[in-house]
Amino acid sequence: MTDVEYRAVSPGEEFYRTYTAAQVESVVAALSERAEFPYELTYLGGGSRLWHAGETPSNSDNTPVLGDMDTILTRYAGALLALAPAPLPVRIIDLGPGTTRPVRGLLRHLLDQSRLEGYRAIDISAELLELSRQNLSAEFPELADGFDLRCGDFTGPDLAQVLALADDSHRDGPGPARFVVLAGGTLYNFADPGRVLRHVGEAMREGDVLLLTLRIDTGVDRPPFMDRVSVGPYKPQQLAGMDLLGIDRSCYVPEIGYDRERSEVFVRVRFAEPVAVEVTVDGRPRTVRFAAGDTVVVWRYLYVDRSVVVDQLARNGFAVELFEHGESGQVVLVAATPAGRTGAA
Ligand SMILES: C[S@@+](CC[C@H](N)C(=O)[O-])C[C@H]1O[C@@H](n2cnc3c(N)ncnc32)[C@H](O)[C@@H]1O
Repeated sequence: MTDVEYRAVSPGEEFYRTYTAAQVESVVAALSERAEFPYELTYLGGGSRLWHAGETPSNSDNTPVLGDMDTILTRYAGALLALAPAPLPVRIIDLGPGTTRPVRGLLRHLLDQSRLEGYRAIDISAELLELSRQNLSAEFPELADGFDLRCGDFTGPDLAQVLALADDSHRDGPGPARFVVLAGGTLYNFADPGRVLRHVGEAMREGDVLLLTLRIDTGVDRPPFMDRVSVGPYKPQQLAGMDLLGIDRSCYVPEIGYDRERSEVFVRVRFAEPVAVEVTVDGRPRTVRFAAGDTVVVWRYLYVDRSVVVDQLARNGFAVELFEHGESGQVVLVAATPAGRTGAA
């Protein structure tokens, strides 16, 4: 038997500058336990650059879909406002605001109706949060001091920072209605969207409304890679994690495909040769090895139809109040309230 020769690679300074010790640890855990680079971490550092260029990274070159993602909250702003009992003011709580492009029309509508109480956001990427601040200040200069933007991970304990009741409780009556926004398909990039839904639902209170914007499977315009895995296309952000780990692009081939069992579109890299990734975690070296032919998922998107979306919300404690399609039909806006705590309280 011959020993396998691995190409040894290790991250450079930029990797350790970009990620906290806990994030480095979660990269190693994701690589070794589920052969995945956590996509949310690619919004940090260099991966954020695409968003500055005004581009929305996605695996669809379908511009009507991208356009709908940006406009659907504005299009249904009136119907959304009707979910907040008048005359309560509305606070927007944006989970992963990115460029803030999709939410600005809704903010404008609430402002015009004298119903905007405030805007608060949490994003894992300091770079994207700075972009959010710039874009909001440019469009709403009169409100610039009132935007409350915080850096953190909404899938963990940081969520309490933005949904804490104390800040929004008013001594003489109910606090504002709160719209908790999770836009741009972000929910379906997570390996376990149900867990994220339960986590968000547990932090919500009576009167809060969750607003999701998602691309769903309508059975038409299915991308050809749903039938067979193909080489590419990929977006630069999807390989940002591999780049930061110091894995040269000559070591692997990027593939796009559809996992029928999980109903997920994925981008993954397939190693062309054995690779050993050496990372320092808490001062100690850790090595994750990949054989030739092994794959690492770098992006995923749950691609399901309307009934699955509604069922998933119900199973994770939400009642759907509104379900609307954008112009292309494939982008939807879903408003849901934590079950047992109705929106029109
Ligand atoms: C797909 S983009 C959507 C941006 C924006 N909501 C939109 O619709 O255009 C995802 C955003 O969520 C942020 N994000 C992803 N995972 C996160 C997490 N676990 N905690 C906080 N922010 C996260 C990213 O940094 C990015 O700004």
